[in-house]
Amino acid sequence: MHFCGYGGFKVNIDEIWYRARAGSAKTSKIASLDDCYFLYKVISKFKPEVIVEIGTWVGTTAYVMAQALLDSGVEGKIYTCDKHKEFTYWEEYPNIKYYNMWSGDFIKKIKGIKIDFLFADGRLFKSDCKKLYKMFRNKAVFMTHDIYDRKGKNNFQRMEKVMDIEIVESGGEASVLIYE
Ligand SMILES: C[S@@+](CC[C@H](N)C(=O)[O-])C[C@H]1O[C@@H](n2cnc3c(N)ncnc32)[C@H](O)[C@@H]1O
Repeated sequence: MHFCGYGGFKVNIDEIWYRARAGSAKTSKIASLDDCYFLYKVISKFKPEVIVEIGTWVGTTAYVMAQALLDSGVEGKIYTCDKHKEFTYWEEYPNIKYYNMWSGDFIKKIKGIKIDFLFADGRLFKSDCKKLYKMFRNKAVFMTHDIYDRKGKNNFQRMEKVMDIEIVESGGEASVLIYE
């Protein structure tokens, strides 16, 4: 069992991961345990107040981010969307706001918010990228998870062009990009 210690807290990400996994009809769709640890570390490092996620599925990564915010003492909010209705609210994390829709409609709904952290774990369209990019706060962080183009190649270069961002850190199937 893995334990992560940050700021005096001992967090059991395994517990979140196994609980989410138990509620997932397709366990292959959820982020790996290692990638959840990486995500936890990244959120703990940047302490974003407004997080936007594309691709909720059962909510594994949303719960992990919510736990990281709690442990960091940040009263942040997580906006997440998926057309697949697999997400269930866990009462421990009231700061997650789920939208049962695709990203295009979701972005219209959350129009007006300023994003500190974008986590993309679903299909990202260029048009979505352009809109989300305009919602970034200065120094916003953009983290992607297993994003590939149709040929199976990693898609960062294209995103770098669209969003004027730079890859700064990678772990597992995830990469962190900073917008400046
Ligand atoms: C890999 S799963 C996400 C796993 C989830 N983050 C977790 O760890 O439990 C990808 C999900 O993204 C959703 N998705 C893909 N493209 C999307 C889009 N453009 N807007 C909203 N959801 C999208 C899919 O329906 C799918 O459920």
